[in-house]
Amino acid sequence: MNYRRCGRSGVLLPEISLGLWHNFGQQADKEECRAMIGRALELGICHFDLANNYGPPPGAAESCFGELLQRHYAAHRDEMFISTKAGHLMWEGPYGDWGSRKHMLASLDQSLRRMKLEYVDVFYSHRPDPDTPLEETIGALITAVESGRALYAGLSKYPAHLFTRACTMLREAGVPCLLHQFRYNMLDRSCESGQLPAVKEQHTGCIVFSPLAQGMLTGKYRNSTIPPASRAADASSPFLNAEQVASQAAHLAKLQSIADAAGIPLTHLALRWLLNKPEITSVLIGARTVQQLEQCAAAAGQAPLPQELMEQCELCNEA
Ligand SMILES: NC(=O)c1ccc[n+]([C@@H]2O[C@H](COP(=O)([O-])OP(=O)(O)OC[C@H]3O[C@@H](n4cnc5c(N)ncnc54)[C@H](OP(=O)(O)O)[C@@H]3O)[C@@H](O)[C@H]2O)c1
Repeated sequence: MNYRRCGRSGVLLPEISLGLWHNFGQQADKEECRAMIGRALELGICHFDLANNYGPPPGAAESCFGELLQRHYAAHRDEMFISTKAGHLMWEGPYGDWGSRKHMLASLDQSLRRMKLEYVDVFYSHRPDPDTPLEETIGALITAVESGRALYAGLSKYPAHLFTRACTMLREAGVPCLLHQFRYNMLDRSCESGQLPAVKEQHTGCIVFSPLAQGMLTGKYRNSTIPPASRAADASSPFLNAEQVASQAAHLAKLQSIADAAGIPLTHLALRWLLNKPEITSVLIGARTVQQLEQCAAAAGQAPLPQELMEQCELCNEA
């Protein structure tokens, strides 16, 4: 595994990190979950990304991870970099969502209990809250760090102007933003006009989620066929469906033919295309099986993609 420095901090993150959004909920195969965490550690994937609401149901992924950690990997805590977040709907009532100080700190305490941890390495504001003063949400991140519940503060899905303001507040409080987390993949490049240049300007780390577009960039949906064991086939996951897959069919076919001609799996083309970008510290994959995890990990530590291949991908995006 290759490790990259997170902005101007002392933290190094693996090029590939593992997220527990899907695949660690109540219905997940617990033995596969244990094997994925163990194999990730063996492969040098030491960063595990969680959030209060990951499951389903919300909280289940943190509980599953906490159980596994306590039972099998407690001795490895100092080798692991663990994050959690608050800011999406977690519990009923006025304090169960968004960016108030009340929600953020209560949620963090719940996350620590579920994961059986004394602290997390990064605590994120999961999304900006249009109705809460930015100072209040950022103040909660500062308290999280100053109280020892988190080592670093992070931001997720902030538009560039709010990210920049939040970075200033955090820096002035002596708790600089460690990293920004947002979506970036070959099918969704919306961050290129705002969030990506902003991390460069602010000298923070940058970790991008859904690098495989939830599995679409793995070749598994060739000809828009939906395999039974896939996220698009899973009715409990509202985030990817057959219509979304079909709408990307032409673009996916072009990218697949570029990968085939280069003799690499589409998965590797997608991950290495991101790792070619100097702003990116780590790409945050999801995996359902150990085999998927291993395939993704093999994309790390490779030479940069040749310029010619990058240009072909660019042309395919413009067509
Ligand atoms: N900050 C935020 O708001 C936010 C939002 C979304 C995600 N995230 C974070 O980012 C992480 C990753 O997101 P994601 O799950 O969308 O990432 P992704 O890597 O784009 O998609 C993961 C899915 O791709 C498929 N896959 C992965 N490797 C494969 C392989 N080698 N071969 C075939 N299929 C493969 C699997 O789908 P199948 O189940 O179909 O096999 C897997 O569940 C999350 O766990 C979470 O930590 C953060």
